[in-house]
Amino acid sequence: MSPAGQGRVLRTVEVGLGERSYPVQIGTGTLGGLGEEIQRRSGARRAVMLTVPAVGRRYAGRLMRSLRAAGLRCRRIEVADGDASKNLRQVAKLYEALLDFGADRQTVLVALGGGMIGDLTGFVAATYLRGIPFVQVPTTLLAMVDASVGGKTGVNLARGKNLVGSFHQPRLVSIDVETLGSLPARERAAGFAEVIKKAAIWDAGFFGRLERDVEALTALEPDALVPVLEQAVRIKAEVVSRDEREQGLRMLLNFGHTMAHALEALLRYRKLRHGEAVAIGMVYAARRSEALGCSPPGTADRLERLCQRFDLPTQLLPFERRAYLTALRVDKKKRDSRIHYVVLEGIGRAKTVPLTPAQIAAAVPRSPQRKRGSRGRRQR
Ligand SMILES: NC(=O)c1ccc[n+]([C@@H]2O[C@H](COP(=O)([O-])OP(=O)(O)OC[C@H]3O[C@@H](n4cnc5c(N)ncnc54)[C@H](O)[C@@H]3O)[C@@H](O)[C@H]2O)c1
Ligand SMILES: [Zn+2]
Repeated sequence: MSPAGQGRVLRTVEVGLGERSYPVQIGTGTLGGLGEEIQRRSGARRAVMLTVPAVGRRYAGRLMRSLRAAGLRCRRIEVADGDASKNLRQVAKLYEALLDFGADRQTVLVALGGGMIGDLTGFVAATYLRGIPFVQVPTTLLAMVDASVGGKTGVNLARGKNLVGSFHQPRLVSIDVETLGSLPARERAAGFAEVIKKAAIWDAGFFGRLERDVEALTALEPDALVPVLEQAVRIKAEVVSRDEREQGLRMLLNFGHTMAHALEALLRYRKLRHGEAVAIGMVYAARRSEALGCSPPGTADRLERLCQRFDLPTQLLPFERRAYLTALRVDKKKRDSRIHYVVLEGIGRAKTVPLTPAQIAAAVPRSPQRKRGSRGRRQR
């Protein structure tokens, strides 16, 4: 089970989806010994690794060598960094590159990078020849605990993020925590927002552990980090295996995301990392939960304090309430003009309530407080 090389798999979480089940392996230094495991799980003869330059420069060599050592014919493809690469033009180019390489059903795609490369690779794997195997090797914290697990793949359209996609489960998710060493601090914090989210909706004990271990976690100490990654992945795996296609339970993972998406759209996806917007959206949702009588007082304060300790922003940005409303109304997750809004019932428990955009935005100040430097932030 454990890959060759000096690397060690420390924990494995199984994503249970019948014959499409797969393991999420969490280890240290595993990257250089992954080839055999990938070959075994995919049955492939060829491998195409997709990555971005910042990640490829550091980690692709090791992985490519190990794929070759496992007898796979390999190709490495780099796409430009940033979410702008997650589009249909890029997808078409990748199909061409796969054809040039002679990729067939016995070819495995390997996504080495953050959620952008994972979503893009997954979508190409889902659609090329009506579906070929793929493997996730996430290198951002966000991708490790969130994007790489669950099989959601997709690309952006000019009119919105993730509007085209498919469910396609990977054969393996392999996390090498050593790759986090080069991840910029802001990206790390953004990833922790998704960890906090899982604790807040699902597991009060886990939330307490995060509170206890903040310092060790931000320092990426493996003894603290590995069990936290494991638990975050376990929660995602459990939710996904009970509701693969987001009909009910999986919606809870949208905690904080309704406002986050509105905010990201208002900012045109600049300024805030996704996880930062999620932190703001979670604290807002926790305050709404209290105001609606769903959760006891103090819940939002506790959540806000934890976010702040991870260096995450928690305050809404000063757009007018009207602007938030407009943004909420175009959220693709809205149904029958009501949104399944995720509220907390306390730390560790959540549910959805159908709310109109007006009910959700009720706590946004009608017109933004003019703070220092906020003038340049006015919408559009
Ligand atoms: N499929 C899902 O369920 C799901 C869930 C959440 C997010 N997503 C998607 O994930 C994407 C966001 O993911 P992300 O935050 O990982 O962004 P990202 O993939 O753009 O990575 C963020 C940045 O980190 C850099 N980077 C990655 N790994 C690094 C490393 N080890 N060392 C140094 N730099 C590194 C990248 O080059 C990039 O600049 C979005 O496209 C979002 O839609 C998908
Ligand atoms: Zn998210």
